[in-house]
Amino acid sequence: MEKYYEKELLEELHDVQETYGFISEEDILRISKKRNIPKAHLYGVISFYSMFHLEPTGKYIIRICDSVSCRLNNSVELLKTLKEYLNVEENQTTKDKKFTLEVVECLGHCDEGPVMMVNDTYYTHLTTNKVIKILDSLE
Ligand code: FES
Repeated sequence: MEKYYEKELLEELHDVQETYGFISEEDILRISKKRNIPKAHLYGVISFYSMFHLEPTGKYIIRICDSVSCRLNNSVELLKTLKEYLNVEENQTTKDKKFTLEVVECLGHCDEGPVMMVNDTYYTHLTTNKVIKILDSLE
C-alpha cells in the first residue's frame, strides 16, 4: 500500500477508534470494501498499532512499560499490584468498564522508570503506593 493511502487508512481507523472506543468487525468489513483492502491486511494494521482495539476498552487505558529499564526499576511488582488491585489480567477490562490494563514496550521515559500511561498522561518514578493513589484519583 502506498504511503498516502496508508496515512488515510490510519486516520480513518483512528476516527473509528475515537468515536466508538474500538474497531468492530462491521467497521473492518465496511473499510475493507470501501478501500478495496483485504480484511486480513486491516487486522494486521490494527494489531500492529497499540492504540487500536478490536473490543471495547475501559474509560481509562493503563499502559505499563515492560522493557528492560523499567523492569530493573520494579515494573514487574507494579504490574502485579495493578492486576491484583483491578482484578484483571493483561489486555482485560474491569467489570465496571473503567480500566483496561495493557503491558507495552518502552514508553520513551527510560530514565524515569518505572513508567505507565493512563490514556494520554505519563506517570514516572512509580511505586506501588503511587499507582494505587493514581487509580483512586480517577473518576
Ligand atoms: S524502558 Fe520503560 S519507558 Fe523505556
